[in-house]
Amino acid sequence: MNYNQGMMMPGTLEGKVVIVTGGGTGLGKSMTQYFLTLGAKVVIVSRNSDKLNETAQQLRTECEQGEILTYALDVREYEAVETMVDFVIDHLGKIDILVNNAAGNFISPTERLSSRAFDIIIDIVLKGSKNCTLAIGKYWIKNNLPGTVLSIVTTYSWTGSGYVVPSAMAKAGVLAMTRSLAVEWGKYKIRFNAIAPGPFPTKGAWERLLPGHLKEKFDLTSKNPLKRVGEHQELSNLAAFLISDYSSFINGEVVTIDGGEWLQGAGEFNIFDQITPEEWEYINQNIKKINK
Ligand code: HXC
Ligand code: NAP
Repeated sequence: MNYNQGMMMPGTLEGKVVIVTGGGTGLGKSMTQYFLTLGAKVVIVSRNSDKLNETAQQLRTECEQGEILTYALDVREYEAVETMVDFVIDHLGKIDILVNNAAGNFISPTERLSSRAFDIIIDIVLKGSKNCTLAIGKYWIKNNLPGTVLSIVTTYSWTGSGYVVPSAMAKAGVLAMTRSLAVEWGKYKIRFNAIAPGPFPTKGAWERLLPGHLKEKFDLTSKNPLKRVGEHQELSNLAAFLISDYSSFINGEVVTIDGGEWLQGAGEFNIFDQITPEEWEYINQNIKKINK
């Protein structure tokens, strides 16, 4: 057994209808692949229909279980999201689970961003997650159906982060939505949880956030307490658990999966990692002298 293997029981998501926004690429694609192997019917949605169809074709060939459909839309447009909801219900009969995964991001000093650029990120991440959650939530409540929403945020949702300020603001909003609706819509049997990933290599994130030589300059493995980045299956395992009935009593939670990365920066003395054993010996002797 290792962390690159699926951990859930076969059939865990049998018959469940899952919508994964941004499911054509990166982490959304990896989650979709795993949900399919667990028996789910997954609808992947994003703007680029070619990318969606290519992913669907590949996963149909690779996964014997489950069923995959595609739907091209921009999550920023509420009416398009409503139409997508109708499409899924027409084709698969219901919706059980929403995974808010679609995102956009720039790295930039904030003063270099135009107002439009700022809005693009806020609109994709915050408004997009709101649009999908509201449209599907209304459907669940109107039809007296239970539901589960899982949102992919980041660890800077609560720490904030320079150079990705629109993303940090939007992800903080998605986390606030998760915790707020976990309580407000608990009475409708709708659960809300979030995952805060640390670094998981994907083309979409890496090419935009660590372009060119920045990958080597800011080696994310060396600054991580576990000295590695995340494996997609690790995140997919957690996501599958959080959308499954095994986590039925978990509501309003955000689970961090980052190898301890954000705490590394937070702990006052964590920088003491750099002190050698010889230096510790010297420090220890000195402190003893001072104590006397
Ligand atoms: C400053 C920028 C910019 C940059 C674009 N703009 N890139 N400003 N720095 N790097 C500005 C442009 O000047 C323009 O403003 C406006 O943004 C829109 O530019 P477009 O060229 O029209 O947009 P485009 O770059 O084509 O698309 C933006 C996008 C795209 C929609 C966000 O990058 C995208 O499709 N992203 C989706 C995938 C993604 O981002 N994945 C990463 C997720 S990672 P003006 O005013 O001139 O018109 C993540 C967290 C990772 O979220 C955490 C890791 C630990
Ligand atoms: P990615 O591959 O770039 O995924 C982003 C997806 O969002 C794409 O499939 C994109 O598809 C879709 N999307 C963007 N704008 C959209 C819009 N307006 N409407 C509909 N879909 C849209 O990046 P990723 O790394 O897998 O990121 C997935 C999630 O994990 C994001 O929420 C991200 O913030 C989060 N995350 C990632 C990391 C990491 O290290 N990778 C760390 C922390 C958090 P189209 O272009 O086809 O629209």
